[in-house]
Amino acid sequence: MSETKRCSTSYLIFGASMRKGSLNERLASLAEKVIREAGGTVVRGSMTEFDCPSYNGDVETTTGIPVGADRFRSKLLSTDGVIIASPEYNASMPGVLKNLIDWASRYRPQPLKGRHALLMSASPSMAGGNRGLWSARIPLEHLGARVFPDMFSLAQAHEAFKEDGTLRDEKLQKWFEGTVDCFLESVEAAKHYPAMRSQWIEFLGERPNTATERVEMTEIQPV
Ligand SMILES: Cc1cc2nc3c(=O)[nH]c(=O)nc-3n(C[C@H](O)[C@H](O)[C@H](O)COP(=O)(O)O)c2cc1C
Repeated sequence: MSETKRCSTSYLIFGASMRKGSLNERLASLAEKVIREAGGTVVRGSMTEFDCPSYNGDVETTTGIPVGADRFRSKLLSTDGVIIASPEYNASMPGVLKNLIDWASRYRPQPLKGRHALLMSASPSMAGGNRGLWSARIPLEHLGARVFPDMFSLAQAHEAFKEDGTLRDEKLQKWFEGTVDCFLESVEAAKHYPAMRSQWIEFLGERPNTATERVEMTEIQPV
């Protein structure tokens, strides 16, 4: 970890699995530990808490956006960044996670725009679920989230954890801490020294039309 830490940032952390004993939930807990030790604030979420019925435009029109997406949005907006530890299902992200992203994208202003995100995965397989993270990156980046370039994928995760929740392999543990630490520093930098503005336009190819137009500027946080 860095020697000079002035972490005044906060993070929503959740595992995108609803299974008891989830390996991704354990990885999320390890991220929580690393962030707390670095002085950061953590708000935990869970996929069960954020779970939504399958997206249906008629449901949205009649009863509105479901409570799971509302909880996700509230926690997202109350923190500076989000860390998602997601399983890989059939070389992609779990349907429940994509469904949550789809529902959350229906809010105005759109809550993922400008959010800092770190993606991680755990799987018993040798690739550690990394392909699923590339698929999660696509809708998140499409929605204007600042998805951190580095990701962490824990291979053979069923054998990787010690009793205390850290990783058996010391080198891997250091790499994990390094990835989380670099993410923290980038979120801190963006929060304290906002230098990058962005204009997010959802459908660039559309002709200007109030029915489809969604253009949002990133707000500049006061220093
Ligand atoms: C429907 C389904 C598809 C899966 N596909 C993959 C896959 O493509 N790659 C992989 O590494 N693991 C795959 N797995 C195994 C999961 O990585 C494993 O069940 C993991 O423990 C799930 O994460 P969790 O422990 O956080 O629930 C799949 C599991 C299920 C149930």
